[in-house]
Amino acid sequence: MLTNKNILLGVCGSIASYKSAHLIRLLVKAGANVKVIMTADATQFITPLTLATLSKNPVLTAYYNPESGEWHSHVELGLWADLILIAPASANTIAKMASGICDNLLLAAYLSAKNTVYFAPAMDLDMWHHPATQQNIAKLQSYGNILIKPAYGELASGLTGEGRMAEPEDIISFLTGELKKKLPLTGKKALVTAGPTYEAIDPVRFIGNHSSGKMGYAIAERLEQLGADVTLISGPTSLRSSANIKKIAVTSADEMLIAATDNFGDADITVMSAAVADYKPDTVAPQKIKKDSGSLNIALTKTTDILAQLGKRKKPGQLLIGFALETEHEEANAIAKIKKKNLDFIVLNSLNDKNAGFKGDYNKVTIIDRQLNKEYFELKSKVEVADDICKKIVALMAHD
Ligand code: CTP
Repeated sequence: MLTNKNILLGVCGSIASYKSAHLIRLLVKAGANVKVIMTADATQFITPLTLATLSKNPVLTAYYNPESGEWHSHVELGLWADLILIAPASANTIAKMASGICDNLLLAAYLSAKNTVYFAPAMDLDMWHHPATQQNIAKLQSYGNILIKPAYGELASGLTGEGRMAEPEDIISFLTGELKKKLPLTGKKALVTAGPTYEAIDPVRFIGNHSSGKMGYAIAERLEQLGADVTLISGPTSLRSSANIKKIAVTSADEMLIAATDNFGDADITVMSAAVADYKPDTVAPQKIKKDSGSLNIALTKTTDILAQLGKRKKPGQLLIGFALETEHEEANAIAKIKKKNLDFIVLNSLNDKNAGFKGDYNKVTIIDRQLNKEYFELKSKVEVADDICKKIVALMAHD
């Protein structure tokens, strides 16, 4: 959630500023780019060198550095930041923020901020409960600034009460939760199938296909990044999915049918990208088949079309997306599948481009929806194709 986010951290004069070092460490570890502005008082509590080393950026304490002649533009800093975090926020800085006083670089950057400002107060309990502080906090909230509440506990004064700055770990999970709320698919459940299925012939042999699962895994990852709660039903592949994705490993079409049926009921979005075997051996030989004669015939029986089954059970508000792999009459066949399987849209894979398809990292697709709108895409990496597919999903969910 914090990867590649530009975070401008404001550090005020407070004993809690020692926690800023750990906070910066956690932000950087989470992949954020961190720039730090300290007030003059903050530098009495912790050295700029410590915070510069941890943030991997020079720490700014004033508009102007007389030694280097460098001028720091508060406007540029405000524009650079995806979010401003003031932690610890002292009673003094909170009061200045509330009344628009601009007597240092941090306050100028705050007034220039375009994006959300989060502030984590730190002060003694009586200062925290003072009506002036509470009024200032309410004012900041009315400006759209977001309070990260102080905790209850032992304070530097020796008193016990409310006023301790939230712990750095809690600040990180607060920010992560806030950023997640803003994602377009937060609160939505997604179900994705991926990979091949293996249909057993005997204990050592199977009928399978060349699907790598890369397309389905990329879709699952992208849906998760967009905030969805993702369940991935995967046929046999060597791929790994991120820890936030619930993975159900299956082998055969029958197992995939059970897992998909079990999880479809509460799925808002279902993407069936698995290359499910259309036929399976009539019976599975209990022992390894010996090579007795010159030829061997294996009787096959049709597997259940999982996508078509889900299409029959689909309720209003559920999105169902299928794939089609065609070698002739591509669009006509794909459109027929939209109707036959009750899909919201279909992703038509082309086999006409030699770099696209099953095993590799690239794909070339056409998206066709129920209204027969068609979007033709260039040859792209499967990660980029997943992004195109998910953009269509987000657009349809917003329309719903
Ligand atoms: N599919 C499925 N269950 C099956 C076969 C296919 O859920 N037993 C799904 C695939 O995951 C894909 C879509 O159906 O989303 C289309 O698969 P495809 O093989 O292109 O088409 P079929 O409907 O199987 O028809 P045909 O093979 O005759 O083209």
